[in-house]
Amino acid sequence: MRFSEPAAGPRARAPVIGIVGCGRMGTALAETLAAQRRPLLLASRGGGSASALAERLPGARAGSLERVAREADILALASPLAAIHAEIAPRIRAHVAGKPVIDMSNPCGHDLLGHGSAAELIACMLPGGAVVRRSTASPRASSRAPRTTAPR
Ligand SMILES: NC(=O)c1ccc[n+]([C@@H]2O[C@H](COP(=O)([O-])OP(=O)(O)OC[C@H]3O[C@@H](n4cnc5c(N)ncnc54)[C@H](OP(=O)(O)O)[C@@H]3O)[C@@H](O)[C@H]2O)c1
Repeated sequence: MRFSEPAAGPRARAPVIGIVGCGRMGTALAETLAAQRRPLLLASRGGGSASALAERLPGARAGSLERVAREADILALASPLAAIHAEIAPRIRAHVAGKPVIDMSNPCGHDLLGHGSAAELIACMLPGGAVVRRSTASPRASSRAPRTTAPR
């Protein structure tokens, strides 16, 4: 995945990319973006995986879910859809209005509650202009990151 540069002068700061979830997908995405020297903010459920990842990636910092949602310019959700639905969306909704939010989830087995896609479901939970887009990029899941939740 490669983000294009913003259409601004050379002194404009690089957009901060927030990643919620530092398991296999979040780690793979963070490693890819860190290699591109993107500033990263990382959050996870317990905080330990985010802190450990931030320690070894240049330009990455760990923070609370709310802080990452508030300070990031772009937010990628690399967590199970059930957790996004039940815990993450309610906690970040006040901070993501107007921001691009990238959904990386596979909705297998999850009740979409009548919505056509996971992205649509999340968009309904994040009102106020947040744009939710299903990620079509597939960073290779990191072999270093342990599975942290039960198989879905
Ligand atoms: N694995 C794949 O090949 C693959 C491919 C395509 C899409 N996906 C999708 O990508 C998403 C992540 O998959 P994964 O394989 O990376 O899962 P994973 O390895 O189990 O990692 C899940 C991450 O989400 C975090 N998390 C869980 N609940 C949270 C909460 N309430 N608040 C904040 N963070 C929370 C966990 O935090 P802790 O570290 O603190 O537990 C963990 O870092 C899933 O929706 C999956 O369907 C996976």
